[in-house]
This record gives sequence, structure tokens and C-alpha cells, in this order.
Amino acid sequence: MADRTEGEQMATTLITGGTIVTAADIYKGDVLIDGEKVAQIGKNLKAPGAKRIVATGKYVIPGGIDVHTHMELPFGGTFASDDFETGTIAAAFGGTTSIIDFAVQGFGERLEKARDAWLKKARGKAAIDYGLHMIVRDVNDKVLREMDTMVKEGVSSFKLFMAYPGVFMVDDASIFKALGRTGENGGLICMHAENGGVIDVLVKRALAKNNTAPKWHALTRPPEAEAEATYRAFRLAEMAGGIPLYIVHLSSSHALEQVRLFRDRGFPAYAETCPQYLFLSIDNYDEPGFDGAKYVMSPPLREKWHQDELWKGLARNDLQVVSTDHCPFCMKEGFKGLPKQKELGKGDFSKIPNGAPGVETRMVLLYDGGVVGKRISLNRWVELTSTTPAKLMGMFPKKGTIAAGSDADIVIWDPRATQTLSAKTHHMRVDYNPYEGKKVKGKATTVLSRGEVIIDKDKFVSRKGRGRFIKRGSPLLQT
Ligand code: URP
Ligand code: ZN
Ligand code: ZN
Repeated sequence: MADRTEGEQMATTLITGGTIVTAADIYKGDVLIDGEKVAQIGKNLKAPGAKRIVATGKYVIPGGIDVHTHMELPFGGTFASDDFETGTIAAAFGGTTSIIDFAVQGFGERLEKARDAWLKKARGKAAIDYGLHMIVRDVNDKVLREMDTMVKEGVSSFKLFMAYPGVFMVDDASIFKALGRTGENGGLICMHAENGGVIDVLVKRALAKNNTAPKWHALTRPPEAEAEATYRAFRLAEMAGGIPLYIVHLSSSHALEQVRLFRDRGFPAYAETCPQYLFLSIDNYDEPGFDGAKYVMSPPLREKWHQDELWKGLARNDLQVVSTDHCPFCMKEGFKGLPKQKELGKGDFSKIPNGAPGVETRMVLLYDGGVVGKRISLNRWVELTSTTPAKLMGMFPKKGTIAAGSDADIVIWDPRATQTLSAKTHHMRVDYNPYEGKKVKGKATTVLSRGEVIIDKDKFVSRKGRGRFIKRGSPLLQT
């Protein structure tokens, strides 16, 4: 049983009759939870007085971990429409029990200040546990020292941008220095790999010819720009001393080729992709009127053939994680009182706020398209959506598995349930769903976070603010 202070009463829960699925195993068993932790796993466990959850016919899986979200991100002249309350409740409905969000360093700002600002946004709001990455915009000697402090205090990963000149982009020297620093302090660099300089030229040329529609967002961000930056990032990591590097939101076969090249050479190269790149394509930008703006994100959606390559990458472990890059912006003025967002770019695609929703739909899309679609195994589904994210982001085995001593972040998954994805029924605070009308198999029916049932029978039964900051360690790299 888990440790507890004397006299403290903590609830015990027994999950019975389910099929436990981890990254490694599939077996029938009961899970006994004591307080916030898994206490025991076995057959026909007895726990008089424990709350019982009957999981017969269901999978019992570790809670999903989405390592790439942007709640309330200030971006493109507005803010991402989900905050830590609405976004984490939506995540929980979809079977995700931890997120890692991105704090943003202001120019000249101390990293501690940016971290504290994001903690303030999350505290009192988050319904599930959350960690933070730090977006570093300004790499100098002081900031490099502050990175050490961040790692010690549990913000152990740093996102750098090779795109968005003047907003987020840092130069190669800065990347090289930051990589060297994580080599020493045990942190991890997460890279947005697109060649921002070339993209800016292409955008200016398109606008000069009056090509203003949303599709031009994709046409001015070619996969070659992603591949070039991915290659350059790995070479910089190599020159810095063979430093581990994690590419975020990889979208194209071109960039995947670069990851594979470096992995095949034994380099610690890692990458995530996102459901939008597996299920949507450049054709979505042709939807009528201004609807293509729903899919304006960076990197953009690619030609359909890339999807098969990304699925192969996931199956063969050239890609190790599926995250969402959840960064929603509303299509219409006034939805739940929110201001104009995607419409900021009507008449100029370059002003459409970049990003799309997905924190609620990741687990089911991967289950339906991956497991039901026979592209990945059940174990691999858990590995991609929970276990490897926990390992690479320094949270394993507290998170990412079902084992004695781990946090009881557990999802009861009904493999036979079906649902139709829609903005009418989703819980994300955004007025469209990129997968509107798509029928999918599988559903999170009960969700526990640190032993507490937070989703039960289609209802959120807990409270905002219960989520805790996850103090993360260094990445566990044997994946
Ligand atoms: O379009 C995107 N991806 N928006 C969020 C910011 C980022 O680059 O991840
Ligand atoms: Zn990015
Ligand atoms: Zn992102």
C-alpha cells in the first residue's frame, strides 16, 4: 500500500474484470488503488470497503499524456481559446490525464518569470496534472544559466523555433549553445523545425501576387523547408556533442527521412507527429469560403501520401510520440464571448492565427485509425500516447504505465463504443472540430486522475484546480 501520514484517510478503489494494457503487456487483472497510487495488480483481488469499478469487456490503460498543448497561448494577435480549465477538462473527456504546455519567455525576460506566469494561468484551473516546457526566444549567457535552474525545478525541456522570424525564431548559434547546455544540465531541446527565412520570402511573394486564400499558408511552407531545418537541427546537435534532440509536430515524409537518417546512425534523434498530419491533408484547405482557415497551422497539412509514411514511421519507431499541438482559435466572432480569431486573416492568409484543436480527440483517433485500422498494435497505441511521452519527458514511471507505485492515472476504455466527432458535442472551447462528422470506434468511459474518478458516464465529476504541476526529470532515452 502507498505511504500515508498517520490518521490520514484515503479512498481505495478496485478496478475489476478489465483487460490491462500497457506498452509491454495485455492481460486480465484487477487494479487496486490506494489514495493516489496503484497499490497492487492481480487476479481476484479483495478489498472490502473499496469503491468498485467494473471494467469487464473494457481495456484498462494508463492515462494519455499529451506533451504538446498551448492553453491560452498569446499568438497571432489573439489567445488560444482554451484555457487550463476548459482545455484540461476536454483532455480528460478524451482519456488524457496529463499535459505538457508551453510557457513563453518574453524578450529579455527571465525564464523564472515566464514559468511563474504560466503556473499562475494553470493553478486553480487545471483539472488534470500538467508540466511545462519553456519556449526560449532570447538565448544569452544569463538565460543559459537560467536553463540549469529550470531543469532542477522540473521544467526540463525547452522549445526553440527555426521559424517565425521576429517572433520566435532563434539563429543557429543560439540553437548550438542551447543544445550544448542541455547536454550538460540534462534537459531536452524540442525543435520547431521549419526554415523561417525561406518561408517569409515565399509568403511575401504570394501576397505580392494577391494570393491571399488559406491554402497559400501550405503552399508557402513546403515540406522541403521542414526537411532542411530538421537536418540542420540534427547536425547542430551532432556538432554540439551528440546531444539528444526532439522534433515537435513533424508533418512530412521529407522531415521523417531526416529523423530516420540520424536514428539509423545511432544518433539520439526523436520526433513526434500529431493526428492532424495522419488524418487530414492539404485538400482540406479547399473547403468552401474561408473554411480552409480551420486547418491553418504550422507546419501545414501535407499531400495525402505523406500520411502512409507517417504511419509507417510510428509503427517502426522512427516516430516515438503522438501529441496534439492543441492550439485552438475560433472561426467566428463571439463564440462563448470570444473575440475574432481565425477571421483576423480574412484577405491575408499570413494573418490567420496558426493552430487547431485536438486535445480531446487524440486518443480515439489513434485508437480508431491505428488499432482498429490495423496500422499499430494495442500496446503500441499505449506506448505512443502515454508511455514514451512519459519517458522522453522525464515523468516515467510516475506517469505512463500501470504498475505498483505509479500514479493511478487510469482510463477505462470501451473498445466497442462508437462516437461521432463534432463541435456540437466536444468539450473544447472552440466552434469547430477539424474531424466534424467522423465516426470513430472506442471511448474513454471512466477516467481516473491520481486515484480520483474525474470522468464518469459522459460527465466531468471533479473540480477545476485539482490538477498539479508535474516536476519532471531528465528524459529517459532508451526508446
Ligand atoms: O500552428 C501551430 N503549430 N501553432 C502553435 C505554435 C507552434 O508552433 O507549435
Ligand atoms: Zn511549433
Ligand atoms: Zn505547438
